[in-house]
Amino acid sequence: MRKLPTYTMTSTILVTGGTGFIGSHATVALQQAGYSVVILDNLCNSNPSVIEGIERITGTRPAFVQGDVRNAQTLDTVFTRHAIHAVMHFAGLKAVGESTQIPLAYYDNNIYGSIQLLSAMQRANVRTFIFSSSATVYGNPTTLPIPESHPRSATNPYGHSKLVVEDILESLYASEPGWRIARLRYFNPVGAHPSGLIGETPQGIPNNLMPYVAQVAAGKREKLQIFGNDYNTPDGTGVRDYIHVTDLAEGHVAALRYCEKADQDMLTVNLGTGEGYSVLDMVAAFKAASGRPIPYEITKRRPGDVASCWADTTLAKQKLGWAATKGIKEMCEDAWHWETRRTMPG
Ligand code: NAD
Ligand code: WQD
Repeated sequence: MRKLPTYTMTSTILVTGGTGFIGSHATVALQQAGYSVVILDNLCNSNPSVIEGIERITGTRPAFVQGDVRNAQTLDTVFTRHAIHAVMHFAGLKAVGESTQIPLAYYDNNIYGSIQLLSAMQRANVRTFIFSSSATVYGNPTTLPIPESHPRSATNPYGHSKLVVEDILESLYASEPGWRIARLRYFNPVGAHPSGLIGETPQGIPNNLMPYVAQVAAGKREKLQIFGNDYNTPDGTGVRDYIHVTDLAEGHVAALRYCEKADQDMLTVNLGTGEGYSVLDMVAAFKAASGRPIPYEITKRRPGDVASCWADTTLAKQKLGWAATKGIKEMCEDAWHWETRRTMPG
């Protein structure tokens, strides 16, 4: 079989969705690991000022193309102008509730967008692809911690879009030699860069726990609604595997390095800490990190929520030599630093 080149530390990586929450931290990690980055983002859920934050942290400004992954011409131009060696694909829509309201937008963005991107990669003969999948593909887990072999299911269009793209990647990998694909299943990414220069910027009312808690601590929202305290968990509230976004970003660099060493491979791996924390644990940790009260009330369960979800991290350690290093204290401190810097800039 044809031997593919092993890329040097100056390889250029296309990061779609690179001005978003996870993509911006991955860009920082890539640049700090010696890679060049080209970001492609249509800014539908992010702001170009993120580029400044990345530059201030790393000393290097990534190339930025404002454009859509569904646009074949834009993609061809990017692959022609830049010697791209690998693609990290973060661009997509991610709100579970919204996906039930506008499913076509989710399938269009997440599935059609991925197909367009993979087709452009074929045209450009680029065959290394790191995909943002999600623990949502495990549905309601039947074993904890959750191994990658756990059956997959989806209960909403967002989750379904991730399942379909995972399957597309499997078909593509089987269809022709030379693909090096990592399907990374993230658990619950939280926190921000410790510099406070980049982080998560939810539009409107945050769907996720941590940004909501941060806004309550900052006094922007009156109180947190805790969605149910009658789950079969130690304190009755939902338990999740929260992972610091900078650990997650390092997991991407590890996955890229793994792919670079292979002639061809398809890896599916959990990126989590292997530890589960309840909503009340997170509220207590955020209260300690911020020194602010976090008023809350218990309300009814949120439809579609599972009781508990945390990762089996064995495969990530084995295959990638990667493990998360940061705990909930750092996650909350960094999320709070980011929240306060944005509220009181300067
Ligand atoms: P985000 O919304 O912060 O970032 C996504 C970025 O993609 C945004 O900057 C947005 O403007 C851009 N984008 C969206 N559609 C695009 C398109 N068609 N063309 C070009 N750019 C486009 O989200 P995130 O939290 O950084 O998530 C990144 C990826 O990770 C997503 O695919 C998401 O589904 C996946 N993921 C996220 C989580 C999470 O909890 N944040 C968990 C598991 C998986
Ligand atoms: C965490 C816990 C809630 C908000 C979601 C997506 C998943 C993945 C990560 C993309 C749960 C509780 C929350 C609030 C609360 N994203 N909660 N009050 O639901 O585990 O995962 O983000 O792939 O697909 O579903 O994360 O942060 O929304 O919730 O009590 O206001 O906090 O019930 O127990 P979730 P979350």
